[in-house]
Amino acid sequence: MEIRIIDNLDGKVETINDSDAEQVAQLIRGNTKAYNQGEYTEEQLERLCAFATPENLKEEIDRGFLVMLRTDEGELIGCAIIMKRGTRRFIRTIQVSQEHARKGYGAMLYQHCEERYRKAGIAEIEVEVTKFKSTESFYRKQGFVKTGNPTQNDLYFAMYKFL
Ligand SMILES: CC(C)(COP(=O)(O)OP(=O)(O)OC[C@H]1O[C@@H](n2cnc3c(N)ncnc32)[C@H](O)[C@@H]1OP(=O)(O)O)[C@@H](O)C(=O)NCCC(=O)NCCS
Repeated sequence: MEIRIIDNLDGKVETINDSDAEQVAQLIRGNTKAYNQGEYTEEQLERLCAFATPENLKEEIDRGFLVMLRTDEGELIGCAIIMKRGTRRFIRTIQVSQEHARKGYGAMLYQHCEERYRKAGIAEIEVEVTKFKSTESFYRKQGFVKTGNPTQNDLYFAMYKFL
């Protein structure tokens, strides 16, 4: 396994290349659809993935933090993104492809994000969590508590962790 990190949170250091941006976008889109077991309609899935275009990811990563996880053969199987919204930072997404699920990769990607929050001196993390059953269990395991249920039109609910 290979981990690669692009860290532009303290100022732009590196731009993700076109091929990686395309692969990250494909992973997020394909994975989100693959995990859906009726929690979202097609239209909602589109809204969930709307941010995952190569162009938009490039912009977000130019000001954010990206972790990519690849197999030894170079296949992208996981990613995590922290992005900036105004002065706040939030975990945009953590993704692990289904064929590689439940091997601890999601937890490892999350740990990279948590370490980055700590390095920035941030004491709390809020995440917008998808309604997939596994996602809530995943964040609970990382020490998050649920702070709200989604309302009818919401795509996410909020979870919170004090570091
Ligand atoms: C959430 C996600 C990243 C977890 O990735 P993963 O590599 O499978 O997770 P890990 O192997 O590190 O699992 C850590 C813990 O999370 C929980 N968990 C993960 N998948 C679970 C599942 N399907 N059912 C129940 N608990 C689950 C378990 O507590 C697990 O620990 P355990 O295996 O020791 O029981 C992955 O399921 C995913 O990509 N989901 C779709 C995208 C998504 O919704 N991402 C979050 C949006 S912010």
